[in-house]
Amino acid sequence: MKFNDRDIVSINDFSKKEIKEILESAEDVEGEKKDILEGKVLANLFFEPSTRTRLSFETAMKQLGGKVISLSSTQASSISKGESLADTVRVIEGYSDSIVLRHPKEGAAKMASKFTDNPIINAGDGSNEHPTQTLTDLYTIWKEKKEITGLNIGVVGDLKYGRTVHSLLLPLADFDVNIYLISPLQLRIRKESMEQLKGEEKNGFVEEKTSVEEVIEELDVLYVTRIQKERFAESQEYEKVAGSYKIDMDLLKKAKDDIILMHPLPRVDEISPEVDNSSYARYFEQSANGVAIRKALLELILGEE
Ligand code: CP
Repeated sequence: MKFNDRDIVSINDFSKKEIKEILESAEDVEGEKKDILEGKVLANLFFEPSTRTRLSFETAMKQLGGKVISLSSTQASSISKGESLADTVRVIEGYSDSIVLRHPKEGAAKMASKFTDNPIINAGDGSNEHPTQTLTDLYTIWKEKKEITGLNIGVVGDLKYGRTVHSLLLPLADFDVNIYLISPLQLRIRKESMEQLKGEEKNGFVEEKTSVEEVIEELDVLYVTRIQKERFAESQEYEKVAGSYKIDMDLLKKAKDDIILMHPLPRVDEISPEVDNSSYARYFEQSANGVAIRKALLELILGEE
């Protein structure tokens, strides 16, 4: 399989076989430090806030012996003077070997990839996708449960605007899991995404629910997401759904003993802090797993063929 010099714009550009290969590579490189990317430079261009994605890419590149240059806001770049994203990536191509891009516009990473020969890695484009988070999520499930196929997975929260969910659902369907989509009615998955997901149903199923209580006893994994306040056009619309679900120990008492609780983070109030020290919580491990996944990807993309 050819990964060298490849863009990572959409998770759907990768076959199930390729995804498995990336997960296995992450397992191989986890905790390792080596110099295979010595002399290579990664450019982190973040036009929206980030803690995990930006810093885990930086850690990953440094653990492989490479260097990182960064822009962490529009104000800090010449985009604030009117320079286009296309010109920006053309310029950064001259300084780096690969570009990690987070941008508020859906499709920004795909557009940027047309203006540079450097591999573009999509670190989140609006409400659309976050493919390296998806690989981190799949890696976490695979590490914890040893197998992805056949699991019962509940995904709760902002299914309309949340890009981590958008990216995750199709690969999960491809692994034949049973998916429960749990959200207030206003935050349900978009119609076209649901149709696409239904089209992927093979040995698993997809069902929509409005409360976690309805399905908690069935679940092997509960994947919780934040309501994406910043994507609402009207603050009153956000206020109507704010705080509409909360995962706490009372709810988890009804769950299987070995359920795992995931969250791409940041969280606001959707998981009670009392859960953090329970046997269910895996969100901080999930966040740490981002380093292994990003190391595996950087090695596959920028390493020797
Ligand atoms: N999960 C995630 O994308 O986190 P950051 O926004 O902090 O990068």
